[in-house]
Amino acid sequence: ISPSILSADFSKLGSEVVSLEKAGADYIHIDVMDGHFVPNLTIGPEVIKKLRPLTGKTFDVHLMISPVDRFIKDFADAGADIITFHPEATSDVSKTIKLIKDQNKKVGISLKPKSEINLIIDHLSEIDLVLIMSVEPGFGGQKFMPEVLEKTKAIRELINKKNLKVDIEIDGGINFENCSKVKNAGANILVSGSTVFKENKGDLKKNIEILRNN
Ligand code: DX5
Ligand code: ZN
Repeated sequence: ISPSILSADFSKLGSEVVSLEKAGADYIHIDVMDGHFVPNLTIGPEVIKKLRPLTGKTFDVHLMISPVDRFIKDFADAGADIITFHPEATSDVSKTIKLIKDQNKKVGISLKPKSEINLIIDHLSEIDLVLIMSVEPGFGGQKFMPEVLEKTKAIRELINKKNLKVDIEIDGGINFENCSKVKNAGANILVSGSTVFKENKGDLKKNIEILRNN
C-alpha cells in the first residue's frame, strides 16, 4: 500500500508522512505535477528533500512533468527511491530509463488510462514497475475507471510469460470496493490518497489495513 500524500494536509506534511509510517504504509507515494503535463501543480524536489530525514520508507515518486529528463537527478538527489515517469513526457524512453538507473534508483513507467501497452512492451525487461493510472492524472478524489482492469491483466500476463520481476502499481480512485478487483487483475501495489486519508474519519491505520486485506 502506497498512500499518496496528495490527500494529506500540506500545512503539516512532515507529521503526515510520519503518521503514514506509523500506520503501516509500505511506501510513500509522492505526486509531482508541473501544470503542463497535467493541469495541476504540486511539489518539487526541495519538499522531498525536507521529508527525507523523517522516514526510512520507500519514496515512490510519480513524475507527471514534461520534459522529464532534466529533473531526474534533482529527484534522485532529493531522496526518491522509485522514479516513475510517463512515456509521453520524454522523446526517448530508453534514455530516460538509463538516466534513472545511472542514479541507482528503481524505474517505473506509468500508463494513463488511454495509453496503450505498446508504449512499454519493449521496455518491460529494463524496468522495476509499471504504474497503471485508473484516473486521468492530475487530481486526487476522482472515480476509478474499471476499463483499466483489462490492461492490468494483460500486463501481468506479459510479465509472467517473460518471467520478469516487475511490480504492477495502480493509481487513482482505489477504494475498499475495488481493491480486491485490482489485486485479482494483477496489481500488487495500490496507491491511495482519498481512501487512506478520508475514510473512517481519517484512521490511517485502519484504512491501510482494509486496503491490504480486502
Ligand atoms: C493522480 C495521482 C494519484 C492521486 C490518487 O494524478 O497520481 O496518486 O493522488 O488519489 P485518489 O486515491 O484520491 O484517487
Ligand atoms: Zn500518483
